[in-house]
Amino acid sequence: MSQQADSSLGDPAGPLVLGTTVGLRTKDLLGIGDLSSEEILLILDTAEAMKEVGTRPIKKVPALRGRTVVNLFFEPSTRTRMSFEIAEKRLSADTLNMTASGLSVVKGETLVDTVRNLGAMAPDLIIVRHASAGAGHVVARLCSAGVINAGDGMHEHPTQALLDALTIRQHKGRFDGLKVSIIGDLLHSRVFRSNLLLLQKLGADVCACAPTTLMLSGMNRFGVRSTTSVDEAVDGADVIMLLRIQLERMRGHFIPSLREYFQRFGMTTDRLRLAKPDVIIMHPGPLNRGVEIASEVADGPYSVILEQVANGVAVRMAVLYLLAGGHQG
Ligand code: CP
Repeated sequence: MSQQADSSLGDPAGPLVLGTTVGLRTKDLLGIGDLSSEEILLILDTAEAMKEVGTRPIKKVPALRGRTVVNLFFEPSTRTRMSFEIAEKRLSADTLNMTASGLSVVKGETLVDTVRNLGAMAPDLIIVRHASAGAGHVVARLCSAGVINAGDGMHEHPTQALLDALTIRQHKGRFDGLKVSIIGDLLHSRVFRSNLLLLQKLGADVCACAPTTLMLSGMNRFGVRSTTSVDEAVDGADVIMLLRIQLERMRGHFIPSLREYFQRFGMTTDRLRLAKPDVIIMHPGPLNRGVEIASEVADGPYSVILEQVANGVAVRMAVLYLLAGGHQG
C-alpha cells in the first residue's frame, strides 16, 4: 500500500480536508473479498469526511476534475445509480450514464465488444451493474479504467455492504461481537454475500435466517449461524437487516406465497420485541412492504433505511476518490 500525504482539495466553499491515508491496493473494487479490513476502515473513514461536503451550501469539491466516469447499468437501479451520479458530480467528475436500452447491446453487441469500444474512449472509471455474476471482472480485464462493481447478478454488491457498515458503525460504534441478523431471500442476494464477507472481516457475529429453500447451502462452511426461526434470529439482535424476496431471479417456486412468507418471516413490531432495545432495522431497498417488512417497521423508530441511502452517496464518493483521485503518485 502506498502512503498518501494529507489532501486539501479546496473549492470556493471551503477545503475538503482528509487525514493521512493509505490508498487501496487495486485499480478496481469488484468485491469485498478483495479488501483487507484496513482498506474497509479506510473507505469508512474517508466516507465520514465526504459526508461533510454534502452539508455545504455548494456541494462540490474538485477532487475528480478532469476525470471521466461512465455509469454502465444493464439492470434497473434507483439508489445505486443515482447515488453514484451524485457522488461523481460532488467530486466534479465528467459523468456519462448508459443503460442497456440505450446501448447497441439491443442490436446484438456483446458485453465484451461494448467494453472494448468504451475503453477506446479512455474513461478513468467504469461503474457497472449487470445480471451476470463476474461481469465487473470481465470489464476490468478488458480495459485499463478502474472498475467498480455496482452489483453483478447474485454475486456481490460491495458498495452496498460498505454503506451498510458505515450506518452500523455510526449507530453502534463497533462491529466486534455485534449480533447482526440477516433475514430474507439469502439465496438470490448479492447484498447478503457482500455483507457476510465484510461483517465477518470486522468481527461481527452474523446470523442468517431464511426458509430452507432460500438459504445458501454450506453456511457452516462460512462460520455463520443459520436458522429458519425468525424468533431465534431476532432474539438479542443489535442489527436486523431484511432482504427483499427477489422474484425476478427465481426460476421455480421457492415459497408457497408472499402472504405466507410475511406471516412466517415478515418483520413486524410484535416480532421485534425479542431484539435489543436499541436495535436498528436495515434494508438495502427496494422494499416489498407487507412481504419482508411491515410498513410500521420500515417507517418506525428503529428504522435507519433512509440513513443507509444517505450514506450511499458518501461511501461512493470515498470509493471514487480512493480509486481515481486518492492515488496521485
Ligand atoms: N440497494 C440497491 O442496490 O438499490 P437499487 O437497485 O435501487 O440500486
